[in-house]
Amino acid sequence: MNISAAQAKLFYIIGFLLVLNSNAQSLGGYDLWLGYSKIEDPAILSEYQKHTKSIFFDNHSPVLDTARKELMRGIGRLLGQPPIMHDSLSLLNTMWVSKKMNLGKDMVSALEADFERIGSEGFIIKSVTVNNKSILLITANEDLGILYGVFNLLQLMKMHKSLEGINIVDAPKIQLRMLNHWDNLDRTVERGYAGFSLWNWQKLPEYKDPRYVDYARANASIGINATVLTNVNANALVLTSAYLEKVAALAEVFRPYGIKVYLTARFSAPIEIGGLNTADPLNKDVIEWWKERAELIYKVIPDFGGFLVKANSEGQPGPQNYGRSHVDGANMLANALRPFNGIVIWRAFVYSEEDATDRAKQAFKEFVPYDGKFLDNVLVQVKNGPIDFQPREPFHPMFGTMPNTPLVMEFQITQEYLGFSSHLVFLPKLFEEVLDAETYRKGKNATVAKVIDGSLFNKKISGMAGVANIGNDLNWTGHPFAQGNWYGYGRLAWNPYLSSETVAEEWLRLTYSNNSEFVEAVKKIMIISREAVVNYMTPLGLHHLMDTGHHYGPGPWVSDLSRPEWNPTYYHKADKEGIGFDRTPSGSNATSQYASEIAKIFNYPETCPEEYLLWFHHLPWDYKLKNGAILWDAIALKYQEGVYGVEEMIRIWEQARTYISVDQFNEVRMLLEIQLKEAKWWRNACLLYFQTFSGRELPPGVELPDENLEFYQSLKFPYAPGN
Ligand code: GCU
Repeated sequence: MNISAAQAKLFYIIGFLLVLNSNAQSLGGYDLWLGYSKIEDPAILSEYQKHTKSIFFDNHSPVLDTARKELMRGIGRLLGQPPIMHDSLSLLNTMWVSKKMNLGKDMVSALEADFERIGSEGFIIKSVTVNNKSILLITANEDLGILYGVFNLLQLMKMHKSLEGINIVDAPKIQLRMLNHWDNLDRTVERGYAGFSLWNWQKLPEYKDPRYVDYARANASIGINATVLTNVNANALVLTSAYLEKVAALAEVFRPYGIKVYLTARFSAPIEIGGLNTADPLNKDVIEWWKERAELIYKVIPDFGGFLVKANSEGQPGPQNYGRSHVDGANMLANALRPFNGIVIWRAFVYSEEDATDRAKQAFKEFVPYDGKFLDNVLVQVKNGPIDFQPREPFHPMFGTMPNTPLVMEFQITQEYLGFSSHLVFLPKLFEEVLDAETYRKGKNATVAKVIDGSLFNKKISGMAGVANIGNDLNWTGHPFAQGNWYGYGRLAWNPYLSSETVAEEWLRLTYSNNSEFVEAVKKIMIISREAVVNYMTPLGLHHLMDTGHHYGPGPWVSDLSRPEWNPTYYHKADKEGIGFDRTPSGSNATSQYASEIAKIFNYPETCPEEYLLWFHHLPWDYKLKNGAILWDAIALKYQEGVYGVEEMIRIWEQARTYISVDQFNEVRMLLEIQLKEAKWWRNACLLYFQTFSGRELPPGVELPDENLEFYQSLKFPYAPGN
C-alpha cells in the first residue's frame, strides 16, 4: 500500500498527539520521570499560565542557574511557550523565585517560622499576597533549596495539582541521600542489570558525556545529593592522579545539581599504589600516606564527599589483616579527611569464614561493642536486614543499638536477589516495611526510620544509601518499572515516612499518565508485586535460596560451596523432620540481638509473624499454621500464590493498553511474561526439591511441575549478568 505524504504526515501528527496526551517518555524511557509534554486540559493550563506569566528569578550561582534552566524548560514545555523571566522585581511579576536573603523584611518575618524549619536544603512554595496581588513564591535559605523547590513545583504541575492557595514547607529528613554505584573501572557493574557503567573512564576527563547531566538532573529532581562512583569491592587505581582528574570532571558536572562525589577506598591502597609494604592503620607511613592522598584529592575536588569502605568483608582487605579493629581503620581515614570536612562511611556488612556463628549475628557482634568509639566524621552503613538484600528480611538488629554512632541505611535498588531487571518488583514497599519497623530501643514508636533520620538519638548527621540500578541502557534501569525504584528510593531518602502508595502514584503520574483509571490500576500492580516475589521465591521467612554466584534463579539444593554460609542449605536447613533456621535461644539465639519486646514475639512460632516464621524457626512439615494448614501445604500454596500474583499483574496490565503507547505497553507485557515463566520455575524447582524431604504430595490448588527436579538442577547460566 502506498500512502501519500499528506497521509504520512497525518499519521505522524496523530501518533505525536497520542504521546502528548500522556506524560509519555520520549526515546524509550530515557526521560525517566522528567518528560514534559504540553498540558491539554484548558482549565489547568490557564491556571498555570496565570501563575507563571511573569517570573522574577533572583540572583545567579551555578545551582541557581540550574534551577532557572529547569524552570524555563519545564514550564516552557508544559505550557507550550517559554516563560518570561526577569532579573529584577517588577509589579507585573506573578511568581517570585528568591532566596530568603533577598526577600523584603516583612516577607521574611512573616515566613520566619517556615525558614527555621527548612534548614539549608528545604524550600517553601507559597501563595502570598503582596500589594493586594497574589504571588506564587518559591523561596529557601540556600541555593539548593531553590533547586529542589523548582523541581517540586514542576512535579506538582506535571501531576495537574492546583496551585491556588498553595502552602508547602518541605525539607529533607535525612542529610546524606546517596547512591552507591557498584561500578568497576572496566565499566562492568557488579550486580548491574542495565548495561555497562555510565562512567566512561577512558574518555574522561575531556569528554563529558551529556548523559552525566541527565543523570544529575534525575537525581536532583528527587533530592539525591551524594553519589559514590565506584564499587565497594574497590580498585585502588581510582585514587591515583590520573583517575582523580576524571573524578573531578564528573564532580564538576554534578556540582550545579547539588551532588557531591564520593569514592570507595581500598584499604590496601598504600601498598598497591603507594609503594608501602603495609596498610596497617597504626603505621606512621600509612597514616601519612592517607593524609597526603586526602590533600591530593581535595586539591582536585575541593568539595569531595569522602570515602565508602568495605573492609574485612568477603575477602576485602582491612585493619583486621594487621590485628587492628574497624575503629582503628575508620578513625585513621577519618583523621585524614577531617581537615577538609570529609567523612568516612564504614560498612557493617561483615561475616567471617573463620566464625561459625550464625551469619545473621556477626555484624552486630563485631560492631555494637564499638558504639561511641568512632570519630564524629565516621558513619556506619548497615544493610536493611542481617543477611543480604533478600526479598524479605526482618530489620537489621543493629538499628537502635548504637545510640552514639550515626547509622546509614543501605538499601539495594538493583534487584540482585529479586529477579534482576526482568521482574517488576516495586521496592519502596520493601523499604517502607523496614523503615516502619519498631525497634523498641527507646520505648514504643522507636522505628527504624527514626534511627536513620537521627531523631531517636539526636544525631548530628544522618544518611541513607541505595545501591544503584543504573547503567547505560537507553532507559537507564533495564526494566521501565525499575525507574520507579530509583525514584522511590530518592523520595524515601528525602522523607522516610512517605507511604509507598504515595510514591507509586507520583511516579506513575510523572512517568506515564495522569489518567486516574490508569493510575489506580497500575498502582495496584506495583503494590502487590513485592509480596508476589516473596511468595514465588522465598515464602514464610525462607531466604537465600538463589543459585550460586550470579544469584539468578533457584538453587535451594546447592551445598558444595567452600564457605558454609554461601550455600542455600545453610539457610533453609530442610531435613526429613522439617525446615527453617532456628534462631531462637534453642538455636543460634539471633533473636537476643533484638529488644526484648521483639525477641519475645520472634521466639515463639505462635507469635512470630508468619512472614518471618522460617527465618526464626525450624518447624516440622506438619506444623499447623494459624489458618489450619500444615507447613508443607502452606509453603506449596504460598509458592502458587506468588505465581497467581504475577498472573494478576498481567491481567491488570491489560487495562493499561489504552492509556500508553504501544511500545510502552508491549515492553512491560513481554517482561511480565518472563516474570511469570520464572515465577513458575521458582515454584517448581523449590517444591520438587523440598518434597524430597517432606515426602508429601502437593496440596490441591498447586499446579504440578512440568519438569522433574533433575531438570531444574541441571540448568546453568554461565553468562548471567552482574557477576
Ligand atoms: C552481596 C553481593 C556482592 C556485594 C556484597 C556487598 O554479597 O552479592 O556482590 O559485593 O553484597 O554488599 O559488599
